[in-house]
Amino acid sequence: MNSKEVAGCRAAEFVEERMVVGLGTGSTAEFAIRAIGQRVGAGLAISAIPTSEASAALARELNIDLTTLEANPHVDLTIDGADEVDPELNLIKGLGGALLREKIVAAATAYQIIIIDPSKQVDQLGTQAPLPIEVVPFSKSLVVRHLAEQELNPVLRMVAPDQPFITDNGNFIIDCSFPAGIADADGTDSWLNSIPGVVENGLFVDMTHLVVVGNDDGSSQLIERT
Ligand code: 5RP
Repeated sequence: MNSKEVAGCRAAEFVEERMVVGLGTGSTAEFAIRAIGQRVGAGLAISAIPTSEASAALARELNIDLTTLEANPHVDLTIDGADEVDPELNLIKGLGGALLREKIVAAATAYQIIIIDPSKQVDQLGTQAPLPIEVVPFSKSLVVRHLAEQELNPVLRMVAPDQPFITDNGNFIIDCSFPAGIADADGTDSWLNSIPGVVENGLFVDMTHLVVVGNDDGSSQLIERT
C-alpha cells in the first residue's frame, strides 16, 4: 500500500451504517471510494454524493448508491483529498478541477475528513501548489486582469495547446500563484470570490474536521481540528 491508499483506507473506516457520505475527487479519494465500495459489497448501507462525474462513475462501478443534495441536503461525512494542508487544517484544493462541487459538498457536511500523503503538509498555503479559480468562460479576461494586477501569475488551465480545461460545470480554471504564499486565507477567499465571473476558488477555510496523513510504511496520523 502506498501512502495515499493508507490514508484512503483509514478514512473509509469512519463511514457508518445509513450515513450520507460525500465522495471526494482525485487519486487519494479514489482509494477511499474503493475501500467504501468494498464495505458496501460486504453489506454496508449508505447513500453517497459524488463531487465529480469521475467519482460518480467510480461509485456506480462499485455499486455504491448515489443520492443528491436535493434529496439529502445534510451530508454526515465527506472524505476528500487536498493539494495543500496548513497547520490550522485550511486547504488548497482543485488541482483535479473539481473544487466547486467539492466546496459545495463540504459546506453541506457535518464532518469533513481530508486524506493526504505527507507531501501535502505545508507551513503556509500557497507555497507549494497553485491556487485554482473556477470562472465563467465569458469572464476569463476580466478575472485574468484582476489577478495580474495583484501579480498572481494567472494561467488558464489547458488540456491541449488550443483547448482549455472545462470543469464538470462547463467553466474554465485559472491557476494562480502567490510569490510570498497566502498570509490571509480567509481574506483572499473573500476577495477572489468578489471578482465578477469567479464562481469559486480552491481555498477551503475552516471546513476540515480531521486530516488523515498516510505513510508509505502503512502507518497513519490523525490530526483533529482544535
Ligand atoms: C480535486 C482535488 C483533489 O482532492 C486534490 O487535487 C488532490 O488530488 P490527489 O489526491 O490526486 O493528489 O481537489 O479537485
